[in-house]
Amino acid sequence: MPLAFKSLMKESEKEKNSRIVLALDITAEDPEKIFWKSMLILEKVHEYICALKINHHLILPLGLFNGVRKILDRAHKFGLPTIMDCKANDVGHTNRVIAENYFKAGFDALIANPFVGWEDGLQPIFEIAKEMDRGVILLAYMSHKSAWEGYGQSIYDPTTGKIKPQYVVFAEKALLWGADGVVAGATYPEKIKEIHTTLKGLIPIYSPGIGVQGGRIRETLAAGAHYLIVGRSIINAEKPSETAKKFRDLANNFIGKI
Ligand code: XMP
Repeated sequence: MPLAFKSLMKESEKEKNSRIVLALDITAEDPEKIFWKSMLILEKVHEYICALKINHHLILPLGLFNGVRKILDRAHKFGLPTIMDCKANDVGHTNRVIAENYFKAGFDALIANPFVGWEDGLQPIFEIAKEMDRGVILLAYMSHKSAWEGYGQSIYDPTTGKIKPQYVVFAEKALLWGADGVVAGATYPEKIKEIHTTLKGLIPIYSPGIGVQGGRIRETLAAGAHYLIVGRSIINAEKPSETAKKFRDLANNFIGKI
C-alpha cells in the first residue's frame, strides 16, 4: 500500500495548518498570461494551502514538460505536494504512459477513474505509482449535477450478490486497491457520509465543489471530508490571498485547529 503520498499530505497539512487544496484552473487569452497568472496566484496563496491541484486548464496551453513543470517546481519550493487531476480513464498500457509522464514531470499524485476497473485498467497506474513512490486518488462521486447518472447508479455486486450504489463500490475498491485518497463532491454531503463510513477513516476524502459549485465547508467537513479542493472562489477573488486565508480559517475553526 503506497503510504508515501498520504504522509506527504499529512506533513503538509501540519506544516501549513491548512486542509485547502488549490485548484489552479487559470484561464487567459494566451499561454504566457496563463503561466504568469498561475505563478502570481501561487505566490499569493501558498501559505494558506496544503497542496496544489492542476487540471487541463494548464497542461494544454503550457505543456507538461514546459510551463507546468516550472509551476510544479515552484509549488515544491513552497513545500506543496502536487496533484494532477487527469481522471485517468483509459486502457492499461495507455494509463501507464499517462501516469509515467505526469510523475516524471514532478506530480506527486494523480486522480484516476475506477470505472475502467483493475485488470488492464487502473492496475498499471497503481504499479507505476508504487515504483515511483507517488499517489493515486480515486473518484467515488463527482461534484457536478449529473454525477448521479454514472456514480449514483445502483449496481449488482457479483461478489456479495447485493445491490449497492456505485459510489460505495468505488470506495470499497479504493480500500482494496490501496488508494491514497478518494474524491467525493462537496455538493453531495450525504454521499460523502456514506463513502466516509465505507472507508472507515482509512483513506482521506478530497472534496471539490466548495464555493462556486455550492458546496459548503462546514457540511463537507462534518460529513467526513478531509481535504477541501477550491478553485474559482479563490483564483477569481479580488484578493486571492485573503480569500484563501478565509477558507483555511473557516475549515480550521470548524475542526478546532485554530
Ligand atoms: P471550482 O472552481 O469549482 O473547481 O472550485 C473545482 C476543481 O475540482 C475539479 N473537480 C473535480 N475533480 N472530481 C475531481 O476529481 C470531481 O468530482 C470534481 N469536481 C470538480 C474541477 O475540475 C476543478 O479543477
